[in-house]
Amino acid sequence: MIALDHVTKRYGNTAALDDVSLTLGDVGVTALLGPNGAGKSTLFSVVGRLVQADAGTVTIDGRDVAETPSSDLARTLAVLRQDNHIAARLTVHDLVEFGRFPHSKGRLTVEDRDHIERALDYLDLEPLRDRFLDELSGGQRQRAFVAMILAQDTRYVLLDEPLNNLDLRHMTEIMRLIRQLADEWGKTVIVVLHDINFAARYADRIVALRDGRVVADADVSGFMRPDVLADIYDSPVEVHQIDGKPVALYYE
Ligand SMILES: Nc1ncnc2c1ncn2[C@@H]1O[C@H](COP(=O)(O)OP(=O)(O)O)[C@@H](O)[C@H]1O
Ligand SMILES: [Mg+2]
Repeated sequence: MIALDHVTKRYGNTAALDDVSLTLGDVGVTALLGPNGAGKSTLFSVVGRLVQADAGTVTIDGRDVAETPSSDLARTLAVLRQDNHIAARLTVHDLVEFGRFPHSKGRLTVEDRDHIERALDYLDLEPLRDRFLDELSGGQRQRAFVAMILAQDTRYVLLDEPLNNLDLRHMTEIMRLIRQLADEWGKTVIVVLHDINFAARYADRIVALRDGRVVADADVSGFMRPDVLADIYDSPVEVHQIDGKPVALYYE
């Protein structure tokens, strides 16, 4: 379980996270929603110890991340960041191999190679393995980054807006994969999404942030209610049942 206890992170006068207490990881897939600037990426950065909180603690399976050696943390938690500033002149295979680094320390074992091949295969990247990242479409590149995260083989997988730059078909492919990671690989996935309906269709639990605070936290049926959604988005939202699943309509 990932537990945030009274976590605050400020940038100047802005509290990107404002006294957040939250546990994550009790279900397979948790979706994190909220408008731009709500603090979603900051939450991932604090959990992954990429930035230090000003107050509060984060523990993973009872262990304070501030006192966890980096190599232990990297074998427990993988974070797909929203902006990947990674060298474009890297091949798909090199990138996925990079995901094994916390385990291999640069010397690949047979087991490391198995993980790399399995991740490449799982994301249908075999034909693209020797391509450079800047020779891929946005969707292919996103899949390569997800394969890197998969090769890291961590219990916790945090994905920050993995649907960015993807068309509808690739969005549903990534969401199905996320579901499989939880259901078949036993991973605990926390994923930042923008679309309420993707969250409702694929996640088990939805947490909404606004202004650095948790404003809603419920299972899908508890979240997909007009009163709850109107509160979060400050505008009327209709919820319809289609094939027994809730679908939100939020155009004016
Ligand atoms: N490195 C930074 N320096 C200054 N302000 C930042 C930095 N990172 C985030 N912020 C601010 O913190 C708030 C939360 O940002 P962020 O966590 O990126 O939100 P989200 O991912 O939900 O869009 C925003 O007001 C943003 O401008
Ligand atoms: Mg963000």
